[in-house]
Amino acid sequence: MQTVKRNILLNPGPATTTDSVKFAQVVPDICPREKEFGQLMAYVSNELTCLIADPNEYTTVLFGGSGTAAVESIISSVVDDEAAVIVNNGAYGKRMCEIAESYGLDYFEFNCAPDAAIDLAALELFIRSCPRTVSHLAVVHHETTTGLLNDIPSIGKICDNYQIDMIVDAMSSFAAIPLSMKDMNISYLAASSNKNIQGMAGVAICIANKNKLENIRHQKPRNYYLNLYAQFQYFSINGQMRFTPPVQTLYALKQAIDELKQEGIEQRYRRYCRSWETLINRITELGLKYLVNNKHHSKIITAIVEPDCNNYDFNDMHDYFYDRGFTIYPGKIGELKTFRIANMGDITYEDMEAFSTLLENYLSQIHCMEKGG
Ligand SMILES: Cc1ncc(COP(=O)(O)O)c(C=O)c1O
Repeated sequence: MQTVKRNILLNPGPATTTDSVKFAQVVPDICPREKEFGQLMAYVSNELTCLIADPNEYTTVLFGGSGTAAVESIISSVVDDEAAVIVNNGAYGKRMCEIAESYGLDYFEFNCAPDAAIDLAALELFIRSCPRTVSHLAVVHHETTTGLLNDIPSIGKICDNYQIDMIVDAMSSFAAIPLSMKDMNISYLAASSNKNIQGMAGVAICIANKNKLENIRHQKPRNYYLNLYAQFQYFSINGQMRFTPPVQTLYALKQAIDELKQEGIEQRYRRYCRSWETLINRITELGLKYLVNNKHHSKIITAIVEPDCNNYDFNDMHDYFYDRGFTIYPGKIGELKTFRIANMGDITYEDMEAFSTLLENYLSQIHCMEKGG
């Protein structure tokens, strides 16, 4: 088989893909309103549901769009006249608040530290003290800002006690960290095609409890393109998306799902964890520190504290790596100066070894080796 130059993407998605996923996009032209294409989308949707739920009770609704489209679709489609609580402990929690704000939703923001576990008792108290009935709670599973993994099973129990529908942004956990919609009491989940699934960017994934989805059919729509119920209903009746889907990206997604099933979610996560452990051991040897303790760490992305050294410049370091086939990512957290290294995608611990050796060379070249390195 022909091969494509392999770039090692250490940004948090789009991730490095296999050549077989890349080549799956090269298909005969097809009109996406043909039955054959509808069958492909039905297959993809069903397989995605099966990764984390029983397809008799849950369903997957697809949109052409990036991951934010999935989050926006759910938030703007399901929250009605009652209030939502949105947990904000990073850039993606903040984004959910911004989405709620732009649709004029009634929401209460639960702000908490970006690098420590959520205080569950404080969250429960917050819900109880909301001046309005809370119908939904939205939370990010894996905060890609820091690598913090929020405790979805415990938050799901709180939601169950207060009869709140939980919305989970699982963008950077889905397909690597095992999840169960039912056991974790997740009503709606957002994901995308280009992170741990290891597909191409362009498909927004919403997984929903069917009964809950049916219940929103009578709500007055606030949105149009991203209307979750309209997209679900149109596909159920016609076997087509309402609007033009990213045709070739969906073929790649099918291939990526088949490869995920061959590897298995737990095995994929083990591979990711081995890469993460390699990274952590090597950066620790270099004297570098990272945010979030291991207990609450996703082991999928690491926010590394930048070296306190005059010669250090992230953009210069980025270019050094880019020239050598590695893409690294800037930090995204207010005052704290970090850069981020993700270990998702079709990469192994050997790639992290190679990255770490280059990092050591780079820091030594600019005379920024920390003590202990
Ligand atoms: C947790 C989380 N939510 C939402 C998004 C947004 O996804 P996209 O950039 O595909 O719109 C990301 C992207 O990194 C993410 O990590």
